[in-house]
Amino acid sequence: TQRKPTTYEHIFKFIMVGDSAVGKSNLLLQFIDKRFQPNSDYTIGVEFGSRSIMIDQTQIKLQIWDTAGQEKFRSITRAYYRGALCAMIVYDITRRESFENLASWLSDCRKFSSSDVVIALVGNKCDLEANRQVSIQEAQDFSKEHGLIFFETSAKTGQNVDDAFEKATQQVW
Ligand code: GTP
Ligand code: MG
Repeated sequence: TQRKPTTYEHIFKFIMVGDSAVGKSNLLLQFIDKRFQPNSDYTIGVEFGSRSIMIDQTQIKLQIWDTAGQEKFRSITRAYYRGALCAMIVYDITRRESFENLASWLSDCRKFSSSDVVIALVGNKCDLEANRQVSIQEAQDFSKEHGLIFFETSAKTGQNVDDAFEKATQQVW
């Protein structure tokens, strides 16, 4: 089969936010490289990754900004919402505190992104079912209340990771 040249590439900017250690960098690594780092370092400031995907036979390049969750980087993170078409707010299903802090991340998203930004809620580490501290029902209720799309993922096994990015892209498209 012959591959047609891409005449025009759509570029979508995404931003990933959420508490430190919820797995943002590993979600990005899994999405881009199909890899997982059992012991990854805290992100300093902001990192960047990109991957192209096909939606409706159109090639879309995702430019994904992976921000640092630690409080001391909060003001840096705030500078990256601008122009983002999708914000992924990530929490850790095994750490309740990261779910309790969603309101604060959501507030930053609303304040610093454009009004039509797609916001995706991502409950990560679903491979650790035995340690779960946030139910799916509760996260779905929260998403519904705030108009978010919701996924549970595992950056470790890769479960739902492509799906989350693809569905979020579809939502923007
Ligand atoms: P900051 O950069 O500080 O904001 O953290 P982060 O959200 O980027 O977290 P990171 O991806 O560095 O992951 C933190 C820790 O959780 C690492 O030790 C990862 O190996 C682990 N981790 C990330 N995702 C998963 C997952 O889906 N399952 C399991 N079991 N561990 C995970
Ligand atoms: Mg990180």
